[in-house]
Amino acid sequence: MGGSLSPGRKGNLPADTTTFVDRKHDVAEVRRLLSESRLVTLTGVGGVGKTRLALRAAAGTSRAFRDGVWVVDLGGVTDPELVVHTVLEQLGVHDDTVRMHRTVLVEHLRDRQVLMVLDNCEHVVAAAADLVDAVLRGAPGVRVLATSRERLGVDGEHLWQVAPLPPDPALALFAERAAAVEPGFVLDEGNHDEVGQICALLAGIPLAIELAAVRLRVLNLDHLLSRLDNTFRVLGDGKRGGDPRHQTLHAAVDWSFHLCTLPEQILWARASVFAGTFDLEAAERVCSGDGVAPEQVLHSLMGLVDKSVVVSEKHPSGTRFRLLEPLRQYGLEKLRAAGREQVLRERHRDHYIDWAERREQEWFGPAQPHIFRLTRLEQGNLRCALDFCFDSDGDHCVHLASTLWFYWAGCGMLGEGRHWLDRAVARAKPGPLRAKALWVNGYVATLQGDLTAATAMLDECRGYAVESGDASALAYSTHRIACTHLVGDDLDLADGMFEEAMRLYRGQGTVNSHTMLAGIELAISATFRHDFAAAERLCVEAKAVGEEHGEQWAQAYAIWVLALCAWVSGDLAGADRLGRECLRIKRTFHDLLGIVLSIEILAWISASQGNAGRAATLLGATSEIWQSVGYPMFGSRYFGAPHGECESAVVSALGEQEFRSVFRKGMDLELEDAIAFAIGEEQEREAAPVVALTPLTRREQQVADLIAGGMSNKEIAARLVIARRTAEGHVERILQKLGFTSRAQIATWVTQRRN
Ligand SMILES: Nc1ncnc2c1ncn2[C@@H]1O[C@H](COP(=O)(O)OP(=O)(O)OP(=O)(O)O)[C@@H](O)[C@H]1O
Ligand SMILES: [Mg+2]
Repeated sequence: MGGSLSPGRKGNLPADTTTFVDRKHDVAEVRRLLSESRLVTLTGVGGVGKTRLALRAAAGTSRAFRDGVWVVDLGGVTDPELVVHTVLEQLGVHDDTVRMHRTVLVEHLRDRQVLMVLDNCEHVVAAAADLVDAVLRGAPGVRVLATSRERLGVDGEHLWQVAPLPPDPALALFAERAAAVEPGFVLDEGNHDEVGQICALLAGIPLAIELAAVRLRVLNLDHLLSRLDNTFRVLGDGKRGGDPRHQTLHAAVDWSFHLCTLPEQILWARASVFAGTFDLEAAERVCSGDGVAPEQVLHSLMGLVDKSVVVSEKHPSGTRFRLLEPLRQYGLEKLRAAGREQVLRERHRDHYIDWAERREQEWFGPAQPHIFRLTRLEQGNLRCALDFCFDSDGDHCVHLASTLWFYWAGCGMLGEGRHWLDRAVARAKPGPLRAKALWVNGYVATLQGDLTAATAMLDECRGYAVESGDASALAYSTHRIACTHLVGDDLDLADGMFEEAMRLYRGQGTVNSHTMLAGIELAISATFRHDFAAAERLCVEAKAVGEEHGEQWAQAYAIWVLALCAWVSGDLAGADRLGRECLRIKRTFHDLLGIVLSIEILAWISASQGNAGRAATLLGATSEIWQSVGYPMFGSRYFGAPHGECESAVVSALGEQEFRSVFRKGMDLELEDAIAFAIGEEQEREAAPVVALTPLTRREQQVADLIAGGMSNKEIAARLVIARRTAEGHVERILQKLGFTSRAQIATWVTQRRN
C-alpha cells in the first residue's frame, strides 16, 4: 500500500524552488531514452545539474505513468543496508514486517506503472544497482531515472552524460541568480562580456555560477571577475590531474569558502556532520565550542544563508537548514583536514542522544504528536548518529537504539527498529543497557508477530532482571512477555503476567505509556473472555491517566478496546464512533498497527450494521496494510476470529464474485485514501456546510477562539484557569482533530466559521 501523502495525488515530484534555465536538448534526449530504455542514468560531475535535469525530464513524463513519478534522494544514505528501506519510505510503503525489504518493494511495484527517480546514487552505487536490477526484473511497469557521478552498471542501462551549460544558458543562469540578490540586475551590452568571462572561468557549471553570482551582494562585477580570474587561472595550467570540471567546481567552492568570515568557515566545516536538515538548536550545540560561543552560531549561519551556502527551509515546527551536497562534502574535507571529524561526530552523536532522551521523556505528554513530526524530520541525523555509534566502540548505539522505542513501536517503524535493535542486541554486553535493548526489541518483534524471536529476547531480559535485581527491566520484560502470551492465545498465562507487571509498575511508582498499555492489553484479554465490565473499567482507568497527562497514543488503544466492547455488546453506533476516533489519533502518528486495527474493527462494525459493501472495502484495505505490518491479527486465534466471521458474513451477503471485486477495490486504495474512507471524511466534508458541526469539544472550541484572538498557550491557560500543560494538550488535540499543523490555520478556521 503506497501512502501518497495527500489523497488522490500520485507521486512526490517536488516543485521548483528556483527558476530553471532550460536545457531543451537534454530534456528531450532524456525523455527519448526513457521511452526506449527502462533505466537511464544521468552522470556528470558534482553541481553540473543532474538532479535538476532529472526532475525536469521526469515532470514532463508524469502522464505516461499511471501511478506517478516518485523521487527518492539517496544523498543522505551512507549505510548500503538502508537503501531499500529509504526507497520504501519515500514511496510511502512502510514496512514493519520481518520480510525482506527488497521483496516488499518489488511486490509493491509489481502491478504499478511508476517512474522512479533515484537521485544521488554515487555513495551507494552497488546497493542501488542491486535494487534497480531487482525492480526492473520483478516490476515490468517501472522505469528508473537515476543520477549518479558514476554509472550503476546494471544490464540495459543507458547513460546520459550531463555537460555543463553552454554559454547562453550559463549567462542566463548567472543573470537570474544575480537579479535575486541585486534587484534590477539585467544582462546588457555593458556587462555581457564580463559575465561571459565569468561563466567561462566557471566552466558553465551551474553550482559554481550560482555561488559566484550571489557575491554581487558585496562585490561589483569587475571585482568579481578579477577575483575569480586570480583563483581560476591556475586551473588553466592543467597541473592538477583528474576531471578539469571537477577542479573547477572545487575551485569555485574554495573561492566561496575563502570569502567567508572565519566563524562562517568554521561553521561550514562543522555543519557538514549533519545529514539532511538541522535546526538552530542542533547547530548551536554541535557546532559551538573551541572558541565559538553558542550565541555566535546564529550570526554565522545567517551569513552562510546569505551566501547561498546554506539553504533555509520553513517547516511547521520551525526553520531548518541544509548544506547543499557538494558544499557539505567540501566542508567535510576541511573538517577532516583539520583533524576534527571525530570530535564533531561525537558531538553530533551526543546531541542526538540527548535529544532522543528528551523526546522519550516528553512522549508521555501533550507534545506527543509534535514529537512524532520532529522525529521524522530528524530521521537522517538519528540514522547518521546510530551509524556512527555502531561503527565505534561502546554502548552508545545500544542506548540510542533503545531510547527511540516510541518511534519504532509507535510510529509505523517496526522494520527499521528491528534493524537497529538487532544490531544493538548483537553488540551489547550483559547489563542494564542490554536489558533495555532486549525488552524493546522483544516488544517490536511481538508487534510484528515474530513470537519466537520475541520470546527468546524477553526471557533473557527477565532472567537477567531477576538475577541482578534490575527492577525496571523486570517490570518491562514481564509486561512484554504477557503480550507474547496474549497474541499467542494463552490468556491465563497472559493475565497472570499482566497483573504482575502492573503490580511491579505500581510498586516502582512508574506511570507512562507502557503502564497504560499494560492495563489496556489486560482489557483485551478480558474482552476475549467476555468480561466486558472488567475490560471497560481497565480502559476507563487508562484513559483517565492519558487525559490527565495529555497522552494520546496509548489512549487510542483504550478507545479501540472500548469500541470492541461496544461492538460485542451491540452498541453499533457507539462502537463506530469510537473506532473512528481511534483511527483519527493513530493517523497522526502514522502508527500502522493502530491504523490497521482500527480499520479492521470498522469493517466488523459495518458488517454488523448490514453495510456489506463498506465492510468488504475495508477488509480489502486491511489485507493490504497487514502486508506492511506483520502477521495479520498477529496470527492470533482470538484476534483473528472476528475478522473471519466478518468475512464470511460479507461473502454470503454479497456473493463470492461481488465480494472479490469490492475487496479488490479496497486493496487498491492508497493508505491515506483508505483511512479517509474508513473515517468517512468524504461524507463529513460534504455535510459540513449544511450542518456546520464542530469536531471540537466545548472546551476545545473555547481554546480555538482564544488562539484566534492571538493568545499564547500561557495566556490561554491563565484565562481559562487551567494548567499550561492542559492548554497545550487542548491545542494539540485541536490541531489533530482539524488535521492542521499550525495555530494560524486554527485561527483562519475559527474566523471562517464565524463568517
Ligand atoms: N538548468 C538549471 N537551471 C537553473 N539552475 C540549475 C540548473 N541546473 C542546475 N542548477 C542549479 O545548480 C545547482 C546544482 O545543480 P544540481 O543539484 O542539479 O547538480 P547535481 O549534478 O545533481 O549535483 P550533485 O552531483 O552534487 O548531486 C543547484 O542549485 C541547481 O538548482
Ligand atoms: Mg544531485
